[in-house]
Amino acid sequence: VKRSGSVADDWASSPILTTALAARGGRRVALEEAIRDAIRSGRLQPSDPLPSSRSLAADLGLARGTVAEAYAQLTAEGYLTARPGAPTRVAAGAAPAEPAIADRTPAERPAFTLEVGVPDVAAFPRAAWIAAMRRALRTAPSPLLALGDPRGSAALREALATHLRRTRGVVTDPARIVVTCGFSHGLAMLCRTLRATGLDEIAMEDPCLHQHRTIAAGASLRVRALPVDEDGASASPPAGTRVAIVTPAHQFPLGMTLAPARRNALIAWAAAHDALIVEDDYDGEYRYDHQPVGALQGLDPERVVYAGTVSKTLAPALRLGWLVLPQRLVEPALEAKDLLAGEVSTIEQLTMAELLQSGAYDRHVRRTRLRYRRRRDLLIELLAAQTPPLTPRGIAAGLHVVAELPADTDEDLLMARAADNDLALNTLTPYWHDPTGKRPSLILGYAAPPDHAFAQTLALLARVLYSPQTRLGRSVSTR
Ligand SMILES: Cc1ncc(COP(=O)(O)O)c(C=O)c1O
Repeated sequence: VKRSGSVADDWASSPILTTALAARGGRRVALEEAIRDAIRSGRLQPSDPLPSSRSLAADLGLARGTVAEAYAQLTAEGYLTARPGAPTRVAAGAAPAEPAIADRTPAERPAFTLEVGVPDVAAFPRAAWIAAMRRALRTAPSPLLALGDPRGSAALREALATHLRRTRGVVTDPARIVVTCGFSHGLAMLCRTLRATGLDEIAMEDPCLHQHRTIAAGASLRVRALPVDEDGASASPPAGTRVAIVTPAHQFPLGMTLAPARRNALIAWAAAHDALIVEDDYDGEYRYDHQPVGALQGLDPERVVYAGTVSKTLAPALRLGWLVLPQRLVEPALEAKDLLAGEVSTIEQLTMAELLQSGAYDRHVRRTRLRYRRRRDLLIELLAAQTPPLTPRGIAAGLHVVAELPADTDEDLLMARAADNDLALNTLTPYWHDPTGKRPSLILGYAAPPDHAFAQTLALLARVLYSPQTRLGRSVSTR
């Protein structure tokens, strides 16, 4: 920053100022803005003198009155101070703006990924989405573009009710569907709703998605562990707890389906304790080897909240999901939604309604189901073909499998090897309520890579798992 008296020279040659003036073809307003920018960015600091209006006007080819008006305006705004007989200066209180907040885009993502939770976003049905949006915009009456029903677009809720009844056996009508910005938004709404009714505890599967525990804790609910075994979540939440969040179709992250007897036992628990079950059906569309299991909600729609999302079928970035609520919870949930102040764009909602009604959503899900199933088979083959083999679990559904590793595997070393190979991987560790003493395991999200990179990604995984540095091969063979 120049603090000398030759400010007029600086200003005259300042590319910022001349560019600003040229770009806006402007006079006073452009000059004001250039000076404000210089102060905000710290190039001009408090008490720095400005050139006289006469000399600056001459240098910039402006009328003197234009510069004087600009100075007067900035003085009125508090950027400058003017005293008769003295140079106009930058005002003492005109501090530079706070430094810009750092860009939070993950700058250096690994080139290859088996991250959990991400679908193949390269498979997003762009053409179908554009066509649906075009139809939606052509036909939507203008009043729909004002904010309407807080539950969400009626067209989308109607389309969802039909779709969920048909594909997931959900018992519903459009009136009890609330559109959300994805499951996490729906969960935040429910947690606030339940807290407002006086509940202070919530049971969440152990393991589960850690961000969901954070959301519950953020709503002042105490999170209790709901153990998971080979049959899925326990049907006996801790005594005193009257809400349980579960993933019946495909336990997240272990991958088992809630056994039929457990489903019934969980429903019986809810009835006996006047409790609520929240069914997170995050990837229920993707089941490969058997008939899909219907939604738990169908067994007791007044005690089970059904929650769905397009984060796996379309793209997490759409931020679109839905809750199917017991009648009595619709109004309280809308109050919580109001407080949380999140809403999906009506245009996206109308587009989604079109996608469902036209059958394009079903076609996309069928197509991606085939793609993911093929990938899953390749991954299982790869793990089985190594010496010694790994046998993943949770393979019947979803977009990931869990591979248990030998007990003495150094997870940190493995992750470092993965990073060295430019491969994004996840371990199971953060998902446990308490990871102490848990078996080292990887969660392999086989949906994440684009198709063209899948084979190479698997080859990298094999290299990472079975490299001499990882020591995994040796440990497995001595088991
Ligand atoms: C267990 C589970 N539930 C729900 C979701 C979807 O969350 P959202 O709809 O907020 O993207 C995910 C996504 O990763 C998940 O892993």
